[in-house]
Amino acid sequence: MATVTPLPAEALFIQSEGWTIHTASEIGSTNSASAQLPPWHAVRARVQTDGRGRTNRMWISDEGGLWLSAVVPCPGNRSKWSILPLAAGWAIIGALKELGARDLRLRWPNDIMVGRRKLAGLLVERFNNQTAVVGIGLNVFNFPEEEEPALLGATARLADLVPGCYTLDDLARIILRSIGRAHALIRDDEFRLIADELNLGWASPRLVSITLTGRAQTFAGLFEGIDEQGRLRLTTERQGRCTYDAAQVALLRELE
Ligand code: BTN
Repeated sequence: MATVTPLPAEALFIQSEGWTIHTASEIGSTNSASAQLPPWHAVRARVQTDGRGRTNRMWISDEGGLWLSAVVPCPGNRSKWSILPLAAGWAIIGALKELGARDLRLRWPNDIMVGRRKLAGLLVERFNNQTAVVGIGLNVFNFPEEEEPALLGATARLADLVPGCYTLDDLARIILRSIGRAHALIRDDEFRLIADELNLGWASPRLVSITLTGRAQTFAGLFEGIDEQGRLRLTTERQGRCTYDAAQVALLRELE
């Protein structure tokens, strides 16, 4: 069960293009601090002391990175929003390209990669039926491997890709604008418009191993991107071509 923590009382806030952005120096997890906020609020922390990644991993959140969580409304059927993690990946890669970053790719479901190095990770959580929290961890000016030596050679930093005069506040605003666009696509049932772009981002087909939600066993297949509804397309030797809802896929590992 995801943790819910209140926003620190000293957090300052600014308004930007329909978003209210709360900024604090130190927060356990910006996702947890966003859990009870209304839609179109966002939380940014200078450092996170308990940053969380997908599959219960910790997320190194040292000073100089962008640690940001955005609350979006999710009206209607819960299943309609199961593609939000995919659309959020599209939003972040789009925002980073807007800034001038090149040679980015996506790794399922929404890691932003530079070759085999991870630039950004996303954790989308539902704390209630009305909203979702889109958590973004983006390495910018920070050096995560100094806190966790095992990350040496495994991470990328935006500052090395796009040298320039931008601040973490600028990045937060650009990313939030893009998340707003991704949200509108799902709200208006227009996700199909970005399916091709996402498929280009994953550079599929690719040999992968998959673990389905709630199942222990893992199997290999050829990942062929998504269909217009955001369902993952996989071809296996035993079953031929199958599709899986994004929420059905607990883990996808690239084998090549
Ligand atoms: C992953 O790749 O495993 C997802 C990492 C998500 C990290 C971000 S940082 C801001 C937000 N708060 C958290 O605790 N996690 C997300």
